[in-house]
Amino acid sequence: MSAGSMAKSVFIHTFGCQMNESDSARMRESLATAEAGGWIATEAPETADLILLNTCAIREKAEQKLFSALGRYREQKEARGTLIGVAGCVAQQEKGKILERAPYVDFVLGPDNLSALPEIVATLQGQLKWERTPVVQTAWMDSSTYVFPRATAEASRGKVTAFVTAMKGCDNVCSFCVVPHTRGRELSRAYAEIVAEVGALVAVGVREVTLIGQNVNSFSGGCSFPDLLRRVAAVPGLWRLRFTTSHPHDFSPALRDCYAAAPLGEPLLMPHLHLPVQCGADTVLARMRRDYTVAGYEAQIADFRRVAPGATLTSDMIVGFPGESDADFEGTLALVQRVQFDNLFSFAYSSRPRTTARLKENTWGVVPDAVKSERLERLQVAQRDIATARMAALVGTVVEVLVEGASRFDATRATGHTRGNQTVNFSGSAAPGALVEIAIEGSTPSSLSGREVALLRPAFGSGQRATRLPVLLAEG
Ligand code: SAH
Ligand code: SF4
Ligand code: F3S
Repeated sequence: MSAGSMAKSVFIHTFGCQMNESDSARMRESLATAEAGGWIATEAPETADLILLNTCAIREKAEQKLFSALGRYREQKEARGTLIGVAGCVAQQEKGKILERAPYVDFVLGPDNLSALPEIVATLQGQLKWERTPVVQTAWMDSSTYVFPRATAEASRGKVTAFVTAMKGCDNVCSFCVVPHTRGRELSRAYAEIVAEVGALVAVGVREVTLIGQNVNSFSGGCSFPDLLRRVAAVPGLWRLRFTTSHPHDFSPALRDCYAAAPLGEPLLMPHLHLPVQCGADTVLARMRRDYTVAGYEAQIADFRRVAPGATLTSDMIVGFPGESDADFEGTLALVQRVQFDNLFSFAYSSRPRTTARLKENTWGVVPDAVKSERLERLQVAQRDIATARMAALVGTVVEVLVEGASRFDATRATGHTRGNQTVNFSGSAAPGALVEIAIEGSTPSSLSGREVALLRPAFGSGQRATRLPVLLAEG
């Protein structure tokens, strides 16, 4: 076959959150269709015909990553005529300004415009190199124009877990956050569409679905979020259901009750809650416009743990927010000690364009970088100790794991997650997609290790047989 007739290849570099991961998958799929030219996904940017950067703007460092990656890909563009596109949150935030810094970029595509990708690429490909005019497409869509991209069953075959978009955008006004500017207003997907997508995924072997949205529990696509969970859980063949991410403001008693034991709770909802608290001081929370107090958050957690004993709890934390005093930071450390999170994603405050916090920095007082770094380090050390102890407590227990594939670090071992979302690397013979029991023999702050002791449910189409009937274990 001559080079000219070979299918073109696309390399997608994904930064940021699950929303971006999911969008990257949808972009890959939309290019792979016959009408789009059957683009093949590649992991090798140096041989790709199209390099697409799906970007994140949440912190300044994330944004810098775009420009350093672009610098690396530029040479290749000059040597091979590779097309370069920038999608995601920096695309939406900077729009045409990206071309001022990187004029060799061929197109800039906002998160609402993913469906335009195949056409833009086809047009650019049809133009001679020196004739190409960069395309910038970052208009917002509304409920009458926006179509939620959907996973294709073909591309999902062989996958065990999948993200399914429940809503997009964010209507909250957290003063530090760019997401409302980069993802726009909240728009929920109709629940029937979500249920249909989950059905199509399960039909090709997907067993665990995570419903995603920046603020997923404010979902309003024709039913409440707890109702959506129940409708999705009713899809035959689905084994596990999760969602992320949630604002404490929208973590309602009805949603909490979904975690309760049956019949009140939804058995497929996995016992893990990610509920970002951001800070352990009320004055800072108020300036962050988080709409709850430390005591209010802790009451919510106590309530959650009463309803779902043994469930895991994770959170996000920002240190060095403008005006954060030593005492405020001590409040954060004390909160972390009291709550004992299973895992914590902690960040140094980063000043972002068009945010209220940036406008108020001088009024409230900028926390120097050195202080921010020191606080972050102290917080992370404290959390590492907590995570170490919590993970070590699982050594000697037997946990339920959904097998996802070979371990990244050791191909002779498999990897998967517990019901509580802890990573487990283990020895065993079950195929990806099987539900197994693992005897836990070792732990680190971020993962568990062990060996398979029972096959609870065989993998889709594997022909294996269960060695024991599944039980719903009460582990975390
Ligand atoms: N929608 C989610 C958060 C998405 S962003 C929620 O509200 O829970 C993920 C995390 O990034 C946030 O929870 C916050 O901890 C962190 N983050 C957001 N903006 C930030 C900023 N300007 N500086 C530092 N961390 C930030
Ligand atoms: Fe940002 Fe707050 Fe919306 Fe989360 S809830 S995306 S932190 S504005
Ligand atoms: Fe980043 Fe945008 Fe997600 S800013 S965290 S990629 S919504």
